[in-house]
Amino acid sequence: MNLFDVYSLFDVTPVRARGCTVWDDKGQEYLDLYGGHAVISVGHSHPHYVAALKAQLDRIGFYSNSVRNPLQEELARRIGIASGYDDYSLFLDNSGAESNENAVKLASFHTGKDRIIAFRRSFHGRTSGAVALTDNPAIISPFNSHHHVSFCDLDDFDAVTAEFERGDVAGIIVEGIQGCGGIHVPAPGFLQALSRLCERHRAVLILDEVQSGYGRTGKFFAHQWAGIHPGIITLGKGIANGFPCGGILIAPEFQARKGMLGTTFGGNYLACAGAIAVLDIIEQEHLVDNALEVGEYIKQNLPASPRIKEVRGKGLMLGIEFNEPVAPLRKALLYDKHIFTGVAGQNMIRLLAPLCLTRAEADRFLEAFNEVLAQ
Ligand SMILES: Cc1ncc(COP(=O)(O)O)c(C=O)c1O
Repeated sequence: MNLFDVYSLFDVTPVRARGCTVWDDKGQEYLDLYGGHAVISVGHSHPHYVAALKAQLDRIGFYSNSVRNPLQEELARRIGIASGYDDYSLFLDNSGAESNENAVKLASFHTGKDRIIAFRRSFHGRTSGAVALTDNPAIISPFNSHHHVSFCDLDDFDAVTAEFERGDVAGIIVEGIQGCGGIHVPAPGFLQALSRLCERHRAVLILDEVQSGYGRTGKFFAHQWAGIHPGIITLGKGIANGFPCGGILIAPEFQARKGMLGTTFGGNYLACAGAIAVLDIIEQEHLVDNALEVGEYIKQNLPASPRIKEVRGKGLMLGIEFNEPVAPLRKALLYDKHIFTGVAGQNMIRLLAPLCLTRAEADRFLEAFNEVLAQ
């Protein structure tokens, strides 16, 4: 049987990894500034994380959500402390898309309304509702195109206000920082205005922190730079460092009803053990502060070049926008300098390094980046 051919692949086969280093099947070492697409939060194969998963597997790997699972309660307590949202509730699922799907479903249950406002250049995932909220017609099938979604430009307060005035808005979903759309940071004042609009119109503000959350921008959630408190916050990617896990944080005013949300695998023992270990490491190694410090260090030390249009982002969520396509540059970084980076669109190199990236590793990247720019 062949694999369904939907991914463009680099000719690299990673077989081992540790911290921000990955080795391929030929023993070649790579520096990872991509983190497997923002998933590796605490570094590859961290010994504490590996030990936690192995020990959990020796005890019990899976049961269902029809029994008590104290690890879920412990994870909720720990996320509450780490994020400051200790009065919110946690629902655990398996991925970023599923988290967004659950968030809009809950917003619709809660308000009795059915239209969601999303933003141009957004990416929220591939499941039915999440892909409908994503501003990319190429990945929306006819089946997914019937949801009631309206798109506005980020930071366009008047357009959002006009949508709200139609009266049927259940919620608005916005990324803490737009990732796939090219590292666009919403203005803090815009997020504050969205929060007020949602309050006024009895709609739910949903913050998609799947990529921008979990310490990546130097606060636990990117929206915390704006000082707002969304109704629902969605999680994925870095929450369990690569073990599939997602979740939503739900404000106290939401009323749970039995059967309202559900999943077979969400909140399983292994995901919880991995996610608790991730929080242990984030706290012990001060990785939220490290992400800000090393990210800002990279930002400040990137070379000035007429080929670079703009550098955007915060902490270890950075986009270097060029005046030209970056594919050759990214290839040179990977195959000549052995450094993994990401992209957003045609013209942006996107850096989503593990939160444990050191200054020495940042220097290695900066030196290589200078060299490939000069080529
Ligand atoms: C902001 C954002 N939301 C949602 C998703 C979807 O997450 P998943 O691929 O885990 O479903 C992504 C994935 O890149 C993302 O960046």
